Amino acid sequence: MPIESTTERPAFERDLLGELARRWGRRVAVKKDELDLDGHFDAGMPDFPEHLVPVLDLPGAEKLDHDDRRRILAASWIAYNAKTAAIEDEVILPACRLMLTGRLPVRGDDNAVAALHQTIIDEHYHILMCHNAVGVTRRRRDLEDLEFDPKGWSVVRGLEEARAGTSGFERDLVEIAFSLAAETTISGFLSTLASAEDIQPMNRITTDLHRRDESGHAVVFRELCGSLYRGLDAPDQALFRDALVRGLTAFRAADFEPWVLVAAEGGLGIGPDDLAAWAANRPAPARDTGPLQLLLNDLGISNDLVDLTRQRKQPGDARAH
Ligand SMILES: [Fe+2]
Ligand SMILES: [Fe+2]
Repeated sequence: MPIESTTERPAFERDLLGELARRWGRRVAVKKDELDLDGHFDAGMPDFPEHLVPVLDLPGAEKLDHDDRRRILAASWIAYNAKTAAIEDEVILPACRLMLTGRLPVRGDDNAVAALHQTIIDEHYHILMCHNAVGVTRRRRDLEDLEFDPKGWSVVRGLEEARAGTSGFERDLVEIAFSLAAETTISGFLSTLASAEDIQPMNRITTDLHRRDESGHAVVFRELCGSLYRGLDAPDQALFRDALVRGLTAFRAADFEPWVLVAAEGGLGIGPDDLAAWAANRPAPARDTGPLQLLLNDLGISNDLVDLTRQRKQPGDARAH
């Protein structure tokens, strides 16, 4: 009797990547008709929820008139998209390409390769969606000159710091772990806006379209990073876990400098230290840790990692996201 191969999946076992890759054309934003952005722009609606804008809580903000407050909300929407695009461009896309190189012991079968190419297309389209929606805001709200440094976000800096002093395989693992942190966190980041009431319809709809794609990506990354992690030896697994915790912590960390630019658009003169002092006394925002729990269970990593990211609370770890 022939010995059954243990490397091939039994036919009855579902391959989640294969199922996702096959349904891609029917479920993702890039395959749908483009949204009529101007048609969903209501000039009378605020562009961002006030309660998500930390600078509106600072001393002096109470004196802002209606127009200045609205301008700060529009600038906040632009900042939010700049951060989203930076996460895609600086953290997620490089990791997707890295997984296609064959340098890492990650799944490289046809389904895995198809899912990675699809994810790259999705993420690039998300950058375009951010760019197009922000273009309407810039034009309609007269904010043509507001720009943010893609390397200035705390999460991008966190990746730079984690990469420092590493090279070769270790560096690759750090980058993949950060992208995994991103893909398990970005849904929560987008949901805060996708589910916001009483804001600009264009902004809510665009963000919700993006969020829907990310639910598929969470599965892709769980599958691919799971295959990678299980193939590592104990020291490399420890390095991966440490980088994952650093990534999750960086995603919870507040941004300061971008909010200074946002405040200035409404004539509110503040510095990064004002925000840091304000944020130091505030609890971190509640986030849905469901995707993270699923991932950790999948990898056989203790859920203590979630607590670890809380303990690594950074100064100013609050809602200034
Ligand atoms: Fe995305
Ligand atoms: Fe994604």
